[in-house]
Amino acid sequence: MANEIKTIGVLTSGGDAPGMNAATRAIVRKAIHKGLKVKGIKRGYAGLLNEEIFDMNEKSVSDTISRGGTILQTARCKEFTTPEGQKKGAEICKKHGIDGVIVIGGDGSFQGAQKLAGLGINTIGVPGTIDLDIACTDYTIGFDTAVNTAMEAIDKVRDTSTSHVRCSIIEVMGRRAGYIALWCGIANGAEDILLPERYDGDEAKLIEHIKETHAKGKQHHIIINAEGIGDSQGMAKRIEAATGIETRATILGHMQRGGSPTCKDRMYASVMGAMAVDLLLQGKSNRVVAHKNGEFVDFDIDEALAMKKDIDEYQYQVAQDLV
Ligand code: ADP
Ligand code: F6P
Repeated sequence: MANEIKTIGVLTSGGDAPGMNAATRAIVRKAIHKGLKVKGIKRGYAGLLNEEIFDMNEKSVSDTISRGGTILQTARCKEFTTPEGQKKGAEICKKHGIDGVIVIGGDGSFQGAQKLAGLGINTIGVPGTIDLDIACTDYTIGFDTAVNTAMEAIDKVRDTSTSHVRCSIIEVMGRRAGYIALWCGIANGAEDILLPERYDGDEAKLIEHIKETHAKGKQHHIIINAEGIGDSQGMAKRIEAATGIETRATILGHMQRGGSPTCKDRMYASVMGAMAVDLLLQGKSNRVVAHKNGEFVDFDIDEALAMKKDIDEYQYQVAQDLV
């Protein structure tokens, strides 16, 4: 059983994601309405170790629900991956009277939360990443906005690709996870999708497919390439040389991480943020909020981190069946 909570801290960690502000807002407002004090921790674990800690009130989160990025800012912090860094972090929490910390981020950030919990600070994780690559949850804050941003951008590339009868390689984010590529592959009607989890590197097969669709009269050939595979410019040159079809590469990059969150991201992030406060108030620690099989639930962080998740094989097949 966790200790009684009087003051909570909130931080965002890892890559930012649209909807993180909606989660922060929900945490701050819910906690204050329940009589708790709230401290904002800037720049994730880096800000914690640097004591960038400030008092938050209801007004601190006014006019933030529609804003992209994270008002708390974020960082990746190597020092916090060491036992010394974690001990220092827990001591700083104690010094500032913080007895519970809500961490909005991905699996790496949850490992940090797990370590803090082990050092006597009650922690709850809220899944925030555009990659959708947290195994315990079917939803992560920011994915919906990012995938819609990418989809709209790919539609635009497709217009010009069709006008010129070109092949277009569009690189979307996802170093280890192909969810954005898979969803856009289906939603944008791409001819090929290259996922880190599935791509076998067989470029000759890809080139044959481009020749085939061209011969059938297709006016464009859209390839969605995930960041984890990369080399989109090189691939474009090789495809053009092998097929004689003009080929261009577009790397969407960080524009996918910004922008005003969608309704779904605002709504789910708000519910998850509020739930995180409720879990702390129920005396829980080392838990992560999730959305699984249509319901908001929570898991033990150790169990959540041990879970595995992979691209849905049927969805991957559908992407290929509809070309
Ligand atoms: P994400 O949370 O999106 O997976 P990262 O993997 O970059 O992003 O992790 C964010 C931060 O979480 C890291 O910079 C580090 O400070 C902290 N973190 C990651 N792994 C651990 C770990 N094993 N122990 C403690 N803290 C960690
Ligand atoms: O985890 C989110 C993400 O945007 C990944 O899709 C991408 O691989 C990575 O972060 C990029 O990180 P950075 O902002 O450090 O370039």
